[in-house]
Amino acid sequence: MSAPIIVGIDIGTTKICTLVARVEDGGRVRILGVGIEPSQGIRKGAVVDLAAASQAISRSIDKAERTSGLEITSALVSMTGPHVSSLNSSGVVGVSNQVIDEQDIARGLDSARAVAIPHNREIIHVIQRGFTVDGQDGIRMPVGMHGYRMEVEAHIITAAASSLDNLRQCVGSSGVEINQFVLNPLASAEVVLTDTEREMGAVVCDIGGGTTNLAIFIEGDVWHTMVLGVGGNHITSDVAHGLRLPFTQAEEVKIHHGHALMSGINSSENFSVRAFGQEKPVDVRREDLVHVIEARVEEIFSLMVQEIKRSGFDGLLPAGMVLTGGSSALPGISKLASEVLNMPVRIAKPEKLTGMVDKLHSPAFSTSIGLVLWAMLMDEYDPVISSRPETIHYRNGQNWDRFKDVLKRFLP
Ligand SMILES: Nc1ncnc2c1ncn2[C@@H]1O[C@H](COP(=O)(O)OP(=O)(O)OP(=O)(O)O)[C@@H](O)[C@H]1O
Ligand SMILES: [Mg+2]
Repeated sequence: MSAPIIVGIDIGTTKICTLVARVEDGGRVRILGVGIEPSQGIRKGAVVDLAAASQAISRSIDKAERTSGLEITSALVSMTGPHVSSLNSSGVVGVSNQVIDEQDIARGLDSARAVAIPHNREIIHVIQRGFTVDGQDGIRMPVGMHGYRMEVEAHIITAAASSLDNLRQCVGSSGVEINQFVLNPLASAEVVLTDTEREMGAVVCDIGGGTTNLAIFIEGDVWHTMVLGVGGNHITSDVAHGLRLPFTQAEEVKIHHGHALMSGINSSENFSVRAFGQEKPVDVRREDLVHVIEARVEEIFSLMVQEIKRSGFDGLLPAGMVLTGGSSALPGISKLASEVLNMPVRIAKPEKLTGMVDKLHSPAFSTSIGLVLWAMLMDEYDPVISSRPETIHYRNGQNWDRFKDVLKRFLP
């Protein structure tokens, strides 16, 4: 049987990327169709204009359908925004047959998930972090072990139900059903994190246009996630205000002349721009630009320091930070991050891709490719099937199937 076909839609603040892909042997992703479109009607990961967002998503899906020659009927969709929140919870169950099986784990997760969640929020992920069996903690995978009482530690991620419904409506207007939402940094982590980093303790950080997404991995599992409502657009806005430029021109200037560190540039460098109220291009010192950028980037990393400290896991991250997302392309950003966070920082982007990959080897597409890898992990035994040659759809999951999905993600 050939490998399943997977569809991921990354709905970002600046771009929407639909990928049709197949994961081949050795984890290599073959891209069969791509639809990259500028985003509209999305701010900080949330829909602010339904019609504009629906149209942009529809254009991206159409493009992916045209390039792949396949009709898309369902997909995994990325999700982010400051409305996302997470908590750790635990669930206790009695082991039914004295030997722990998958049903016991599912019941344990079920019990962990039974925390009081306000009616206006939806649970998106319930991820196991570890087990305690008859008082012995630190157990990674208890299936097959003997015991009477099992405690499951779980990381639960919730989002505002209205934000999810708006996304469902936008994607649904193109005739595509959302198979599962995947939190942005969890998808990115599938692409950028090595197994060693995941085990040792590392934080994945995806800095996009409107959001900064963090996920802390310790001992192989997700222990903490958070989303900040700041990103590259805020840097561009600062440049626009500081140099008195229209936003689009500020964006160009940031990408061509930007740097995260004053110490990384030569103080005599200049470039010319046409500012508001100027008839002719004027010379601007690069120092003035970098001064503005450095202040904002430093502030973003200071916010991260606070968030990581608040999580309580700040002492457990020897592998440091893996930085990705479009804004990680800013020169000097890893050095500044390392200075502010006081930890090793590396930048990562999707590798090992084949097929239509022209633009995808960039950190901006970590989430998009991550959705494909996530789908592969989730649906290993329940793959995307094509009922007609040109139709893609998933065998769809109800609640129990979602539990199975979570389990599969962590079963060896
Ligand atoms: N070379 C570069 N230097 C600085 N910033 C860059 C560079 N290339 C891209 N960016 C920034 O990356 C951002 C877009 O990143 P990305 O595509 O990851 O965002 P997104 O996924 O659309 O947004 P989000 O994930 O926040 O919803 C923009 O703000 C853009 O200015
Ligand atoms: Mg993004």
